Amino acid sequence: MLQELFSDLKHELRGALHKKKHPFKYVTLSTVDEQMAPRSRTIVLREVSESLECIVFTDARSEKAVHLNRNNKACMLA
Ligand SMILES: Cc1cc2nc3c(=O)[nH]c(=O)nc-3n(C[C@H](O)[C@H](O)[C@H](O)COP(=O)(O)O)c2cc1C
Repeated sequence: MLQELFSDLKHELRGALHKKKHPFKYVTLSTVDEQMAPRSRTIVLREVSESLECIVFTDARSEKAVHLNRNNKACMLA
């Protein structure tokens, strides 16, 4: 059952990349700032690998990139 749900989720996530209005096209990425506070923002999901590695594009100077360089703990909500 769990395996089936996981497989469906993977299918939906990967399918989102090719469908313009798919609800998983935009995700919320949360990072942790220097005060250990959560920070969330919308981003576009660009690629999802077979092993569920999620690729997103951003500017290396953005706050999220600064947060992730300091603390690689993050959460993605689709
Ligand atoms: C619909 C939508 C899609 C967005 N997609 C991206 C994205 O793919 N990458 C990105 O860096 N920012 C994206 N943004 C902007 C982010 O939400 C955010 O405002 C910006 O990246 C700065 O965030 P930060 O200062 O926390 O790093 C998007 C915003 C919206 C409304």
